[in-house]
Amino acid sequence: MLVAPSLLAADFGNLEREMQWFNESQADLLHLDVMDGVFVPNISFGFPVLKHVVRLCQKPLDVHLMIVEPQKFIKQVADLGAYYMNVHYEALTHHHRVIQQIREAGLHPAITLCPSTPVSLLQDIICDVDMVLLMSVNPGFGGQKFIPQTLQKVNQLRQLIDRTGSHALIEIDGGVNLETGRQLAQVGADVLVAGSYVFGADDPAVRIKALKALS
Ligand code: DX5
Ligand code: ZN
Repeated sequence: MLVAPSLLAADFGNLEREMQWFNESQADLLHLDVMDGVFVPNISFGFPVLKHVVRLCQKPLDVHLMIVEPQKFIKQVADLGAYYMNVHYEALTHHHRVIQQIREAGLHPAITLCPSTPVSLLQDIICDVDMVLLMSVNPGFGGQKFIPQTLQKVNQLRQLIDRTGSHALIEIDGGVNLETGRQLAQVGADVLVAGSYVFGADDPAVRIKALKALS
């Protein structure tokens, strides 16, 4: 299992310290949640903070943009040196065009679905993305309860990927802990995002290790 701890739950007053243990941990990616107070009812952090985080982080970045018109920020995300750029299906009109633009900028395109957005909408773009992020909570806040219907969506997505020959990874975000992580592993998730479960722990590295061991 790949594990992407979400910085949203970190202690921002001690970012250097947080990133130090993070770099030494078995985490695969750093998940970064950008919120604009419009697409979601909350505001998190923007590019000045991300530039600081990038300097401290030694692992690939998974940028999750919970903003309207995410296509306007492709260059800024590329300039950060990010690996994945996650854009919400619901925030876009021209999905195919934006996915191509993200790839042309040297990033790995990923598309994100809210809990109420059906997997079937991905049929014609599934072969163009490197990852699909299924939200297992309504986006905007950490520490929410996992929506069990997500398990069925992972199943559907796994079938779509297998049927089309897509190489997209399946990433899940929201309410992930060892219990929900185990269920997600069973239905075929590839990447688990975890915020409060990891950063809220006395020993976050142990929790990352436990999630990584899931298969
Ligand atoms: C929520 C964010 C998540 C959040 C997850 O909108 O996209 O990445 O940090 O937090 P937990 O793991 O606490 O549910
Ligand atoms: Zn996220």
